[in-house]
Order: sequence, then structure tokens, then C-alpha cells
Amino acid sequence: MPDVIAYQREPLSLRYYPESWANRADDEICAFVQRQIDDQAGAPRPRFQLAITLAESGALIDNCGIRIKPGGPGEIRGHPLGPANAWEADIGYELAPAHWGRGYATEAARAIVAFGFRELGLHRISATCIADNEGSARVLKRAGLRLEGRLRENEHFRGRWWDTLVYAVLAHEWEAAPLRGERPA
Ligand SMILES: CC(C)(COP(=O)(O)OP(=O)(O)OC[C@H]1O[C@@H](n2cnc3c(N)ncnc32)[C@H](O)[C@@H]1OP(=O)(O)O)[C@@H](O)C(=O)NCCC(=O)NCCS
Repeated sequence: MPDVIAYQREPLSLRYYPESWANRADDEICAFVQRQIDDQAGAPRPRFQLAITLAESGALIDNCGIRIKPGGPGEIRGHPLGPANAWEADIGYELAPAHWGRGYATEAARAIVAFGFRELGLHRISATCIADNEGSARVLKRAGLRLEGRLRENEHFRGRWWDTLVYAVLAHEWEAAPLRGERPA
């Protein structure tokens, strides 16, 4: 848990997040982790928030996740996730700054997208990022997501307005050009 609290407090990692998220107390961070653990018992499981560890040492270097969107416009009969209309999920990732620039976020994003299509049977995987967060936008592109739009000044935190980029990839697009979870060159 100390490692999680440390990375959840990294100011550099949190510069595109609201202050309320950055300033959470230890017990709020513990409750956040507990929710991820509790999610494991969900049937169907609504969220997979997973640790990212180094293959060589097993060291925890942060987390990534895929969250199934609740509800939807119509039930898909026979869908493996049941009648939850759960055909879309969004993804996210965070990496401790000491490990930036080595392709790890791209590797994690590709793996979680592959998991969403192969194991969860999703139709669409999307993600949003603050437009100024160039690294995150780059990761989404490298994971095969396409830019769908820019929401202008739809977020307000840290004393200013921020634009948000929306990215997504559809199952048939990914099947045509699957990007595996391997480390990018
Ligand atoms: C965004 C983040 C996940 C990128 O992680 P990373 O492991 O450094 O990313 P990668 O090494 O896989 O880099 C992917 C690409 O982004 C580029 N990139 C990474 N950080 C960048 C930055 N700050 N500015 C511009 N480009 C950047 C890399 O050069 C690479 O580009 P390439 O495709 O031309 O080689 C990481 O900076 C982070 O955890 N930030 C804080 C949390 C966060 O913002 N999460 C996303 C919320 S939407």
C-alpha cells in the first residue's frame, strides 16, 4: 500500500487531474484500492483496474484499467456479459514518472485493449484525455485508438478550462490490425 500511496501522490503524474483527486488523504486512496479489489467479485465484473509491474523485478510501477460502461441504448442478445448492455468500455493508465518514456504505457494500453476485445467481447473501447496531455494522446494512438473529437473547455480545474480529446477503436478495426501487448520498438 505505501507504494500505491506514493504513486497516487506524484505531482507530475497528477498535473492533468483535478486538485480534489490529487489531494486525497491516505484513507481515501486506500478506499479507492479497496473498491478495485471488491470489483473482482462482480458478476459480471464492471471494472478491471490492474497493477503494472516490471517483468524483470516484479516492482509495482502503477496501474491501468478498463471500465465497462453501465447501460447503453439496447440489449445485445447472447452477449457474454449478459443483459447489461455492456458493449463499451473505457481505458486509462498511469505510470510513475521514473518509468516514463520507455514504452510501458503503450505496452499496457495495447494489452488492455486486446483483453477488452478478446476476453470481454466488447464492441468499442474508448478513452479520453486532457488535450494538453500529449504523452497520453500519443499512447492512445499507438494502442490503435482513433481521435473522434475534441470537447472544448468541458473540464475546469487548477484554475482554468481544459479541452478533452475523445479516442476510440471498434472491434472490427482492431481485428483488422490487432496491436498486441508486446513492447513497442
Ligand atoms: C501519459 C503517460 C501514461 C505516458 O507514459 P509513457 O510510458 O511515458 O509512454 P510511452 O513511453 O509508451 O510513450 C508513448 C509515446 O508518447 C510520447 N510521450 C510520452 N510522454 C510524453 C510527453 N510528456 N510529451 C510528449 N510526448 C510524450 C513518447 O515519446 C512516445 O512517443 P512515440 O510514439 O513517438 O515514441 C505517463 O506520462 C503518465 O503516467 N502520466 C501521468 C498520468 C496520466 O496522465 N495518465 C493518462 C490520463 S488520460
